[in-house]
Amino acid sequence: MAKKGVSIEEPQGKLGVLLCGLGAVATTFIGGVEAVRRGYAQPIGSLTQMGTIRLGLRTEKRAPKIKDFVPLAELKDLVFAAWDPIPDNAYEAARKAGVMERSLLDDLKDFLEPIEPLPAVFDQRFVKRLEGKNVKKGKTKMDLAEQVMADISRFREASGAARLVMVWCGSTETFLSEKPPHRSLTAFEKALKSNSPDIAPSMIYAYAALKAGVPFANGAPNLTADIPALVDLAARQRVPICGKDFKTGQTLMKTIIAPGLKARLLGLRGWFSTNILGNRDGEVLEDPGSFKTKEESKLSALEYILQPELYPELYQDFYHKVRINYYPPRGDNKEGWDNLDIFGWLGYPMQIKIDFLCRDSILAAPLVLDLALFMDLAQRTPEMARRGIQEWLSFYFKSPMHAPDLYPEHDLFIQLMKLKNTLRYLRGEELITHLGLEYYD
Ligand SMILES: NC(=O)c1ccc[n+]([C@@H]2O[C@H](COP(=O)([O-])OP(=O)(O)OC[C@H]3O[C@@H](n4cnc5c(N)ncnc54)[C@H](O)[C@@H]3O)[C@@H](O)[C@H]2O)c1
Repeated sequence: MAKKGVSIEEPQGKLGVLLCGLGAVATTFIGGVEAVRRGYAQPIGSLTQMGTIRLGLRTEKRAPKIKDFVPLAELKDLVFAAWDPIPDNAYEAARKAGVMERSLLDDLKDFLEPIEPLPAVFDQRFVKRLEGKNVKKGKTKMDLAEQVMADISRFREASGAARLVMVWCGSTETFLSEKPPHRSLTAFEKALKSNSPDIAPSMIYAYAALKAGVPFANGAPNLTADIPALVDLAARQRVPICGKDFKTGQTLMKTIIAPGLKARLLGLRGWFSTNILGNRDGEVLEDPGSFKTKEESKLSALEYILQPELYPELYQDFYHKVRINYYPPRGDNKEGWDNLDIFGWLGYPMQIKIDFLCRDSILAAPLVLDLALFMDLAQRTPEMARRGIQEWLSFYFKSPMHAPDLYPEHDLFIQLMKLKNTLRYLRGEELITHLGLEYYD
């Protein structure tokens, strides 16, 4: 039977990945892609590289790799550029981040050293703990946006990239709530020209990307593109956007465990999470403004997954606390502890303790890769690009962007099903409902 699917342009030529921020996550991503290309390592943690997708009935035994099922850019075709207020090249930045081993970095030095960060759009009021010298100057924020657009066209030309995507891997900015300049594109552009303090640097990159027709994904919890002005611009330009905040570490664990507790109707009295980490991200999060942005992002997942309004006997008024402590000796090797006070049959209390000794950027790097490839796929698929927000990529985020009248989907397993069903839909394969009655007819 001929499958219909939707129209997707083939990925011809190079894909340029533009990174806002050349810190631990960005360098682990770039270095990691090159290590995989050279055959030094496997792309572990990447759904686009290692994941499979079941098609049709279980009896058909069709389960191709995702990268063989939908037309994705290949790793060999990726080229990179970045902005950062700190002038270290990708090799020096990766050395300082201390994620990849020295011997691996030295093997990759010839590739990483030439990647020099472009001057950033940076304002210390938004990231108090950083001081950067590699910074753009401009009379207005609109001038800065135009400079970013000029960087984008220069890179497009110099690298020969046929297509581009942008991923925010920069520091977490101070907490911002939606204000009048964010509510419409006209107000936003006026605010760019009048240097409104409500426009954060990350918004300037996102605006520049969308104007230049470049998909934008936000790996940090900053408000950034999650405002009506930019959501509207994305839809008008038919350019995909998604965010916010890579789902790694403790929140990943939360969105794995909470759906399980709810599935078995086990109650929750409290969930206390604390972390120690010593990388630059941890240092930036010492500032209360940046921490508030992160805290909001980390707190929301449980409420949405557990649905206390539907299950008041189990989840009403559960106590949820998240702490992040900057502790330099650990570097990027975070330790996250969780204590869950749960209850079961007849209300008898139980506890769960989790001690996750993780590596933050090792968990985040494959997400940057998948997002770059899937956002590029969405851009080549008019049916997806015209929608702006790519909710099917919620799987990757702590605070998934969503249509204004919806609540976000946080359950990792529903998110994965949504992602895979979207791919099946694109290719005209039957969506999988897991009903399965036909096996017993
Ligand atoms: N690693 C994870 O597991 C994870 C998970 C979720 C979110 N994140 C977020 O991803 C981001 C990157 O994390 P990281 O560990 O690489 O942090 P990092 O501090 O190592 O790197 C961030 C880089 O961004 C740069 N930067 C700051 N403001 C900038 C601007 N305006 N323009 C361009 N560059 C700018 C900084 O100079 C720094 O080099 C952080 O916001 C972090 O909260 C990370």
